Amino acid sequence: MAPVLYLISLALALVAHASPVVERRLTHMPRNATKLAVDEESGTVILFDSRDERLGVMERDTFSSFDRRGGACTALSADEVQKLPGWDKLKDYANKNWGNYERQIATNEKEYPERAASVCATNEQVELNVNGDPQCTTQSQSAGGDFSGTSGTVALSQSEGTAYTLETTTTKSSDVAVGLKTDISVGIPEIADVTWGTSLTTTVTNSQGTTSSTTNNQQTTSTVTVAQADGQTCKLDFTSQTCTTKGSGNLPFIATGWVWFEYKKKTKNHWLWAVNMDAILDEGDRSVSLSFDSILSTETKSQYNVVCQ
Ligand SMILES: *[C@@H]1O[C@H](CO)[C@@H](O)[C@H](O)[C@H]1NC(C)=O
Repeated sequence: MAPVLYLISLALALVAHASPVVERRLTHMPRNATKLAVDEESGTVILFDSRDERLGVMERDTFSSFDRRGGACTALSADEVQKLPGWDKLKDYANKNWGNYERQIATNEKEYPERAASVCATNEQVELNVNGDPQCTTQSQSAGGDFSGTSGTVALSQSEGTAYTLETTTTKSSDVAVGLKTDISVGIPEIADVTWGTSLTTTVTNSQGTTSSTTNNQQTTSTVTVAQADGQTCKLDFTSQTCTTKGSGNLPFIATGWVWFEYKKKTKNHWLWAVNMDAILDEGDRSVSLSFDSILSTETKSQYNVVCQ
């Protein structure tokens, strides 16, 4: 080889060798990491973003323990992730990125607690749909009237407003988050003369046939002072309306976190790959829901009149 050419090729070889990519060492998880590979030799995890750019590497040991949020979450199993509406999309993503080779699906690998997967009940209010007209009965009632024969003033107590009892029964549980029990806020729509648009907190369990009940008294009590003449008895007449309203609702459970594809042979240099499903699937593709029926009982007291006889 001519000396000049030799020198050029030597220089090129040196350049190629002398500029190794300086890998960023990450101490915590970048927000935009969508997938990762485990590098067995160095004991590190390589993180990538959605454009397939390497974001850097993390030591396995830097993974802090995973903090599950709230009480309404549970770990998502490998079986459950495959029951999500978007599972086929996740599978296609893996096939496209790493190939459709023999592999095992896993979630919540103990060695990588920060790459966990969970499923949580929504923390948004669940709206109640009313089915049919409320069934109501109205009664006239009286309060007080115990004082007779003394003149002066009497204090009579009146309660106005509505007391609610909501009973819910799970009619269809979801395949994911089975048995999960959670407190939810149920939005009660306004129904003329029956409800005034409120919300009630109740407990729902993801298990078919489970019933629970909650009460919420939104009546306010006040005192009416009445001048009672000699020989008179004063009382309060009022109307009490009790209604039963049937309804139903749906409670979404949303899956979140990492799904592992553990290949039997190295693909794209690694055996273990994981993908952040939140980056690949929209919320609908990660959601399943529970259905419940409800019976709302209300008691409303109104139209108070002082009657002295
Ligand atoms: C992710 O974040 C890194 C570092 O902040 C940035 O270099 C990279 O371009 C981001 N990727 C995307 C897809 O936004």
